[in-house]
Amino acid sequence: MGRKEEYPSCQDVLGSKAVDAMRRAQAFLREHTTEQLLELAGHTVENLALKGEVADKRHFPLSFSRGKSCDEDLLTGLGMFYVTQAGKIMLDCVSGHYQMSWGYNHPALTALAAEAVQSGVVWDNHANTPGLPVKMLAEELVARAGGAQSGLERVLLGVATGSVACGAVIKIMLSRYLNDPDCSRLGAPVMVSLVGNYHGTDIVAQAMRGMWKGLLGNMESVQVEPNDPEGLQAAFRRFGKRVAGFWAEPIMMNREAILVQEGFLRLARRLCTENGALMALDEIQTGFWYPEVFLFRTLDLVPDLVIVGKGMTAGFHPLAAVLYRPELDILEQYDALSTNGNASLASLVGLCNLRLIDRDRERLARLAARHREGLSELAASFPDILQRVNGKGLLTGLKFRDRQDAMGFHQAAMGKGLWLRVHAYHPGHRTVLMKHPLVCEESAVDHVLGVLRGLLQERPWR
Ligand SMILES: Cc1ncc(COP(=O)(O)O)c(C=O)c1O
Repeated sequence: MGRKEEYPSCQDVLGSKAVDAMRRAQAFLREHTTEQLLELAGHTVENLALKGEVADKRHFPLSFSRGKSCDEDLLTGLGMFYVTQAGKIMLDCVSGHYQMSWGYNHPALTALAAEAVQSGVVWDNHANTPGLPVKMLAEELVARAGGAQSGLERVLLGVATGSVACGAVIKIMLSRYLNDPDCSRLGAPVMVSLVGNYHGTDIVAQAMRGMWKGLLGNMESVQVEPNDPEGLQAAFRRFGKRVAGFWAEPIMMNREAILVQEGFLRLARRLCTENGALMALDEIQTGFWYPEVFLFRTLDLVPDLVIVGKGMTAGFHPLAAVLYRPELDILEQYDALSTNGNASLASLVGLCNLRLIDRDRERLARLAARHREGLSELAASFPDILQRVNGKGLLTGLKFRDRQDAMGFHQAAMGKGLWLRVHAYHPGHRTVLMKHPLVCEESAVDHVLGVLRGLLQERPWR
């Protein structure tokens, strides 16, 4: 393997200018308290900027901000804070892209990963020879999902991203339908999903949200408004036993953080059972963000399939999973697999993540309540501009009455150093979204609420 002194260093690979800047910024984040960093959020610290010729985005696709300045790109991060390439301190209120559940480089997870590599845990290997952490994660997932009581005792862990996991569920639903002569005699299978669901970038998942019209000739998809029981009943009345599967995301982080109500999901459960359809809950957003780990465990129902990703490994390495009942174990190994999805190290981080959630159960419940109450107070104080608070726990949306206000507020909040997201690009959408990481502290919750209140009072965008 060569001598250690001969191995390329980080500086050799990234260049000393970049590594020096990263180290300066990382040291800055470590040396300041949360309170000091909150004061600095939105400010640029001159000597933290990465200056001069470094890699840019000229080879990126247009849709990945090709040609745009790199000033706002992340240089380094720690916990809920990150420093941009221009040296600006930002407070990340959406956990990266909703996946960094313990923020950036959490010391417990980074120390565990480093120790694990020293101890011999490998990064990845063939799915036929799974390492111990992968098997242990499967056991833990089944236990957290209710074990024999829920019947969700089979776990597909060989998938790297949520899109591949959702693709596997689509295939299970379709295979089951097509292999049942009673069903396939009825005609093409139908997928029922909710308007605003995402389920990743797989072409069939995209067809289920209205893209690629006419391309998938032998499958129909119907979208129902979330929390519209009549619409749901009408879809099942129309298609009956042709419904192969029903899909819901319990909190629709791809549509204004709408909370899908328990009553609606229970109705879906009943209709699926009556019509022989499979019910999938996509918990890629909600999983690992609540003390119960799976949000469905707080509801009085059990889906047939549950999908998790994102927060499962706290964003450490793409790893996703599907839990289902053993009789749905009908795919062949290579029907649904990412060859880099048998990740021992990522699985170990997932196991540690579960321990951190268990350790912080009460703190997480307190934090979520404080955030939620704060947002409700804002909605009550500014009813002329805010319509309501969506979501649950740390997954929340602030719905505005007017789209321009939502967009102006979002820009103003970014200027104050809060990294938030806004849904305002579809008709009727006008919501600012937050998904605080679990590492968030009460002072950060209060700081965010204070900045939001100030902006709602001053309305500088108007
Ligand atoms: C609800 C939901 N399902 C599926 C996915 C796809 O996951 P991935 O991006 O890991 O492929 C996402 C990603 O944002 C999601 O939010």
